[in-house]
Amino acid sequence: MNIQNSVARDGFSKMAGELQQHYDLQPSDAAFDATRDIYVALSDVIPEADWMRHAPYVLAINKLKQQRNAVILAHNYMTPQIYGGVSDVVGDSLQLAIAATQTDADVIVQAGVHFMAETAKILNPEKTVLIPDSSAGCSLAESATPADIEALRAQYPGAPVVTYVNTTAEIKAVSDICCTSANALEVVNSLDSDTVIMAPDAHLARNIAAQTDKRIVYWEGACIVHERFTAEELRDFRKYDPDVVIIAHPECPVEVVAEADFSGSTNDMVKYVRAERPEKVLLVTECSMSTNVSTEVPDVEFLGPCNLCPFMQKITLEKILWSLHSMEEQVEIDPAIAEPARRAVQRMIDLKG
Ligand code: 13P
Ligand code: SF4
Repeated sequence: MNIQNSVARDGFSKMAGELQQHYDLQPSDAAFDATRDIYVALSDVIPEADWMRHAPYVLAINKLKQQRNAVILAHNYMTPQIYGGVSDVVGDSLQLAIAATQTDADVIVQAGVHFMAETAKILNPEKTVLIPDSSAGCSLAESATPADIEALRAQYPGAPVVTYVNTTAEIKAVSDICCTSANALEVVNSLDSDTVIMAPDAHLARNIAAQTDKRIVYWEGACIVHERFTAEELRDFRKYDPDVVIIAHPECPVEVVAEADFSGSTNDMVKYVRAERPEKVLLVTECSMSTNVSTEVPDVEFLGPCNLCPFMQKITLEKILWSLHSMEEQVEIDPAIAEPARRAVQRMIDLKG
């Protein structure tokens, strides 16, 4: 065992040990019965034996949430036991950012990755924002620095900078406006400039460039989950199953999106499936989402490869319980960074009117 692993294991057993002291986390019929109403909606995607283990955590989290006046904002990529078991709001990055501005709760637990928790804190400086695992990063958020953005500005003087919300607070602070996959085109078209800088997702930028008259210049970052999909594999699915409806996230390469019947944010994808009810669908995105949506639309068959986001998968029921129990890890942002970052995020939210 290397030293890093042994440190991580020590931290993990300390957390498990302390939780066991305070909560009854043993699988039991009582915990199963107490969470039966929640389990009914998840029984197609979570076997009973697994729910036996999740139920005590779901019970403890939902009680503690009330005691702390906390709200859990969960991204669509969370595991079904988090998405359907303990969340108060589920959605894409834009929905979660807006929900963060609307909550009366004192505490926000972000069941998602670190940049999402930072966005919630930027919008709620007075609230406690918890991230159950601060090492839940994002390949996009890590792909650029503020100096990289300033270098792009110097290269294209006068061009506004649109940054994807999948960025650190420091990057947001040097941006003119943020965007998400749900509103990137609207944000770009709202700007009074022929040239627009987009960062850090090159694929999102190229997908937007294909839909706007503006000249888009961009940073070469990528999502490690979406960049792995290929147009060839989608063509193979269609060859085998010509009726399959393919829906791709705009973080996918442009040739992958070109093979799809529809492209949109994770929430746009969910809305499409709910409304259109295709017999067979392939969601070209992180595959936990297919599992979560499938509970709502049992008549739809979900096909496709399973690409998981290793960062999203770091968030577990146990870590959410630990977060609410210990009130760790709290997201803090230097006000000198948070203030300009808030302007960029708020300008995006205000576009919706
Ligand atoms: P949306 O849920 O905003 O579409 O983003 C997907 C994503 O990769 C978030 O990390
Ligand atoms: Fe980042 Fe991609 Fe994971 Fe989303 S799916 S958090 S963009 S690495």
